Amino acid sequence: MATAFGKLILFGEHAVVHGQPSIAIPLRAVQVSTSITPRPQGDGLWITSKQLEHPLSLSDTQLPDALRYPIELALRHFNITQQPNIEVTISSTIPMASGFGSGAALAKALIDTIADALHQTIDPDALNQLVYEVEKIHHGTPSGIDNTVIVYEHPIYFVKDQPIEPINISTPMTLLVATLPHATSTYITVGDVNRLYENEPEHISIVFHSIGDIVRTARQALQNGDPLLLGKLMLDNHHYLQTLTVSDEQLDQLCYEAINAGALGAKLSGGGRGGNMIALVTDSTKANVKAALLANGAATVIETQIG
Ligand code: PMV
Repeated sequence: MATAFGKLILFGEHAVVHGQPSIAIPLRAVQVSTSITPRPQGDGLWITSKQLEHPLSLSDTQLPDALRYPIELALRHFNITQQPNIEVTISSTIPMASGFGSGAALAKALIDTIADALHQTIDPDALNQLVYEVEKIHHGTPSGIDNTVIVYEHPIYFVKDQPIEPINISTPMTLLVATLPHATSTYITVGDVNRLYENEPEHISIVFHSIGDIVRTARQALQNGDPLLLGKLMLDNHHYLQTLTVSDEQLDQLCYEAINAGALGAKLSGGGRGGNMIALVTDSTKANVKAALLANGAATVIETQIG
């Protein structure tokens, strides 16, 4: 059996693709789990998942790439040319395309489960590299933050192509995570930000650098346990994401309602234009904020701790 948690980006999405830092944490409230059962000799590898109407063989052309690719990469990594005779069963509570890293989590759990079935081990760096390869088919030009936080399962300060820096968060804080009923593929929003940058390089470069400054300050605020400052930084980051055109009316509305109901800060999280938003709350404000989010169209609200 293998598992992988979801993830949340706290600060720095989109600018991270362009070399700025970002901060992400594991989202333990949602997860993918996989298990294996033996199949008769000669059957090869089969996959069972709620996403599929019926079990599909790894050789079946109908098998989605998100399932096939991690398994094929894992078999290649272990120099296995003949499919093992196993059935892999997948179950997941991570909503797809909601900015929770469902693709990276699925890939991590599948690769771990194949390693298990082959009685092999894979070190986290090699696993991270393989999950990153899978991310490329989902996102085009991913920064690598999703796979990294999902593989290492620790809050991270992440800069593309730099060594990972774990963050130790001194004071636990509570976040509400609202999922929206609509989502836009990260591939599209990342592409749109790229085009915006090509069209207005000077202006957008200033936006990226300003987000980078916010992320550096947020790291200190997390380490020092300063929720008031963090809340303000979340709002500042959200405004820059609006400039990057990745927010939308409902995300803006939910952030506004969260603040009105007493949240210390709120912002969209992940690729944007739907997906999810986060609000920083205290014990005395969380019930009000949750009610406001649900009353304004959030599909679900998850409570999670930072630190
Ligand atoms: O997978 P999502 O939707 O949480 O977005 C990932 C964050 C981006 O910065 C938008 C893209 C990336 O590769 O870092």
